[in-house]
Amino acid sequence: MIVGSGPGAKVVAGRASYLLLHNTSEVVTTDPEGVRILRYPRGAIVFQDGRVVEVGPAGELSRRHGEARPINAHGRLVTPGLVDCHTHMIFGGHRALEFQRKLAGETYAAIAASGGGIRATVAATEREREDTLEKTLSARLERWRANGCTTVEVKSGYGLTPRGEVRLLELIRGAVARVPTRVQRTALLLHALPEEYRGRRAEYIEDIVTRALPEIRVRGLADAVDVFCDPVAFTVEECRTVLTRAREMGFPIKIHAEQLKHSGGAKLAAEMGALSADHLESATTEDWQALAAAGVVGVLLPGAALTLGQKLPKARTLREIGVRFAIATDFNPGSSPVQSLLECVSLAARLCGFNAEECLRAVTWNAARALGLESGVGHLNPGAWGDAVAWECETLEEIPYWLPAVRPDLVFVRGADLAFPALEGRVWP
Ligand code: NIG
Ligand code: FE
Repeated sequence: MIVGSGPGAKVVAGRASYLLLHNTSEVVTTDPEGVRILRYPRGAIVFQDGRVVEVGPAGELSRRHGEARPINAHGRLVTPGLVDCHTHMIFGGHRALEFQRKLAGETYAAIAASGGGIRATVAATEREREDTLEKTLSARLERWRANGCTTVEVKSGYGLTPRGEVRLLELIRGAVARVPTRVQRTALLLHALPEEYRGRRAEYIEDIVTRALPEIRVRGLADAVDVFCDPVAFTVEECRTVLTRAREMGFPIKIHAEQLKHSGGAKLAAEMGALSADHLESATTEDWQALAAAGVVGVLLPGAALTLGQKLPKARTLREIGVRFAIATDFNPGSSPVQSLLECVSLAARLCGFNAEECLRAVTWNAARALGLESGVGHLNPGAWGDAVAWECETLEEIPYWLPAVRPDLVFVRGADLAFPALEGRVWP
């Protein structure tokens, strides 16, 4: 089954597109199962009606697809469009002053306890005009596309109350309609206890379960549900309560797990069959083994680890365990004000020891799997969506090598060339 009928679908609907992307240095993708890396030197790709029809040697493809409109990749590396599977990019304000306090030695937990942290962003987001939140989010999505991300996950989470979360999810829907990027919306429902519920934790959990979840479900406002399982946030039992109900309602689930302290979130993700467990800076070898055994993707967030001064796991350990891992920005105003996925990849390569193939898989197939989209997103096999990037470089090994990271030369979303905003009129009504 091909997944993906997001808002971007209307961009090319009704406009037959038949393109041959040729003159590449190489086309690199995983196989459909995300196991092997396939490299096609001087390869070509054919897109038709938004999807990949064929990928392979350029000579053969141009003979078989003489009718397709040729697009010259000018000797560039072509990969699947990148997938940033973990962001919190709808929020108001910034927390640059807090960052200074962090640099001076204050901890994330201490700053949060003194009125900063997530609650400070919740207040700034509440104050922000709704059209500004929506426009800022679409501008951010454009920036991500300019950096080669054709699929981006956006979490709510700075609303906290059922009303606040629904407001953010509505605004995400509004922003998504403005941009051709593929967006997965995640309701982050346990992020911090809102002021209004101080001393009433049980009631808060109850309201999330009985008010927020049903409204989000009925109105189709989210594709997945996430929670923050940590001593500074919510317990394993509180998370289990919300995730159990979410799963019963048919939502795929995700968990912010083992970030600041170890607390059991990774095992919960494994036990409940989550799509992903994210952060894992404080995860143990047994946690990684449990995720591997359950087929849960471990999402590494180097921006947050660096900003909060935490460790990332070693490539060798993850290889030995055989766990699937993804890399994402975790873009948010507190722990990761980091706005480029490939910079995260280049840093993770250095800090953890990932090779170029592992890096590619971590931001394509594995990241798509962390969103449940891997059947049609994150690779360039026939039938997949035509989301691809021609990079300003020639070999896969350059992807984790350069800093600042390489940028796209051409970006295709659903088989349409969207590299230059000025040309979007061709496909964007
Ligand atoms: O993923 N861990 C929880 N949430 C965010 C941080 C949110 C914030 O500090 O505003 C994260 O790191
Ligand atoms: Fe996060």
